[in-house]
Amino acid sequence: MVKDKRQNTKTKIEIAGRVCRFCMGMFDFRPPLRYARNCPSVLYISYARGLMRIIEVKNQEQIKIVVSLADEIWHEYYSKLLSQAQINYMLENFQSLSAVNRQIKDENYHYFLLQDNGGSFEGFFAVVPQPQEENLFLSKIYIRKDSRAKGYGRQSVSYIKDFAKNAALKSITLTVNRENTDSIKAYEKIGFKIAETMDTQIGQGFVMNDYKMKLGF
Ligand SMILES: CC(C)(COP(=O)(O)OP(=O)(O)OC[C@H]1O[C@@H](n2cnc3c(N)ncnc32)[C@H](O)[C@@H]1OP(=O)(O)O)[C@@H](O)C(=O)NCCC(=O)NCCS
Repeated sequence: MVKDKRQNTKTKIEIAGRVCRFCMGMFDFRPPLRYARNCPSVLYISYARGLMRIIEVKNQEQIKIVVSLADEIWHEYYSKLLSQAQINYMLENFQSLSAVNRQIKDENYHYFLLQDNGGSFEGFFAVVPQPQEENLFLSKIYIRKDSRAKGYGRQSVSYIKDFAKNAALKSITLTVNRENTDSIKAYEKIGFKIAETMDTQIGQGFVMNDYKMKLGF
């Protein structure tokens, strides 16, 4: 199996070298995001490292995949932290088909899907530029259970950092439930620090008890 993997990797790097005038097959070199967006070799670089392909959500089919992933992951993960009623309320308001369409169309959200080597969609994230604060808000990042703790969160944040730098933004912030200790530990390992405690009313008597975390660069 290992042998197969290596052969596979070699083929893909060779393809990358042939098609990419920025990395020229040097797969440790990451082209700047403005080039990488159109660079087919980015796919092969990611595959060579055994990581995910990151795809910006552009159409209804992709939005439906986001909505379905959110539904699966929120019910699986948040059941230990929130009531079913709150999960359903939040999904309807923040992660339904109409909510995601509104966020992308009117609220400057950028959604991305994470796809593994086998073509399976294993998670997603969404960011919102906040130019006045020179900040990028990481509004959502959700990875399916079996794909957690494999480096995809770190890979996503690295991509998000490039996205922010490319937009001349100097930090990334996020909010995370204060009892979501596993994710807080992962964020801290990646470099985020707790900046604030926030309790936000989100309607119908529901409250989000969060930390705001920040990564500056
Ligand atoms: C939070 C989340 C996005 C992190 O992504 P991930 O792919 O699991 O994280 P990674 O594998 O990239 O791990 C990043 C770092 O955190 C560490 N880490 C991950 N999970 C950890 C845990 N439970 N405890 C301690 N450290 C952890 C990893 O070891 C890694 O550190 P290293 O690179 O120095 O070894 C993902 O776990 C997730 O979707 N969780 C469930 C949903 C959720 O809570 N989303 C966030 C809502 S705010």
